[in-house]
Amino acid sequence: MSTILMRVTRIEMLNPLVRRFTLQSAQGSTLPPFDAGAHVRVRTGQPDEWRHYSLIDFSTSVQADPAPLTYTIAVRLDTEGRGGSRFMHGLDEGDEITIEPPRNDFPLAAHEGCAVLVAGGIGVTPLASMAARCLAQSRPVRMIYAGRSQSLMALLPELQTLLGNELRVHTDEEAGEPLNIAALLDECGPSDRLYVCGPQPMLDAVLAAAQARAWPSERVHFELFTAPVPQAGDHAFEVVLSQSGQSYTVPADQSILECLIDQGCDPMFDCKRGECGVCAVSVLEGDIDHRDYVLNASERAAGNVIQICISRAKGQRLVLDL
Ligand code: FES
Repeated sequence: MSTILMRVTRIEMLNPLVRRFTLQSAQGSTLPPFDAGAHVRVRTGQPDEWRHYSLIDFSTSVQADPAPLTYTIAVRLDTEGRGGSRFMHGLDEGDEITIEPPRNDFPLAAHEGCAVLVAGGIGVTPLASMAARCLAQSRPVRMIYAGRSQSLMALLPELQTLLGNELRVHTDEEAGEPLNIAALLDECGPSDRLYVCGPQPMLDAVLAAAQARAWPSERVHFELFTAPVPQAGDHAFEVVLSQSGQSYTVPADQSILECLIDQGCDPMFDCKRGECGVCAVSVLEGDIDHRDYVLNASERAAGNVIQICISRAKGQRLVLDL
């Protein structure tokens, strides 16, 4: 993958935790185009440490700018995270960073009905671009933006201006309870589609509610904003690579993918969040604890493919066709 050297030309504090960055090519050249929902991967310090950040575009042009001069991203500081946001929050205007060209795994689909954008926290960034594009194209759109408190919800003033009454804000602080996902789905018309970006519990709740209502899977588009978190009861287990004969112990707090990389293997992967399917590996023995968003119910029940970036072993051992 080619890379682009970028210069940070502007940094704004949107609230105490979120910084918005304006980036230009260090050479001053135009940049590859992107459409709503796209992200760039940013190298965050170490040679192989990359984070993906959605591109924000409030322009109300009908089509994507064919030759943008700047990219805009927003990063929420997570002091408990893996370090990407700390790197980004340590940057100053004038610093240079390396990115990969935009890629869109979360595009707006062509469909009847309303695009219902469901944002959780900083997951609002790709949905903000979608809102602007929908309005530019005269597509029906509304957004539900949930967060803990309004003071920590990035881009809120811009979205209020853009969407007016089509924006509903939910704060746990004011409501005294989390967003009512069931009610949200029940309010949707039969042709409406959901676009969800937020933390894993929100996404899991939306997917469960959609499944309970027998919605076809294409009615819910999503992107997981945060990296998957370990679950209570996660345990260490052995992975055996049948082709090489090697076996390794996967610690309770590490994924199979990370373990294999640490051991010098070169497995295929991309999103590391169980969304893309790139890391799929055949399983020859062992029960899989599926945690991905790729496989359907029958594929899970078959129990012969695992997404090694996120899914684990139910028991003590998995034999992989690697
Ligand atoms: S790397 Fe995308 S599903 Fe595992």
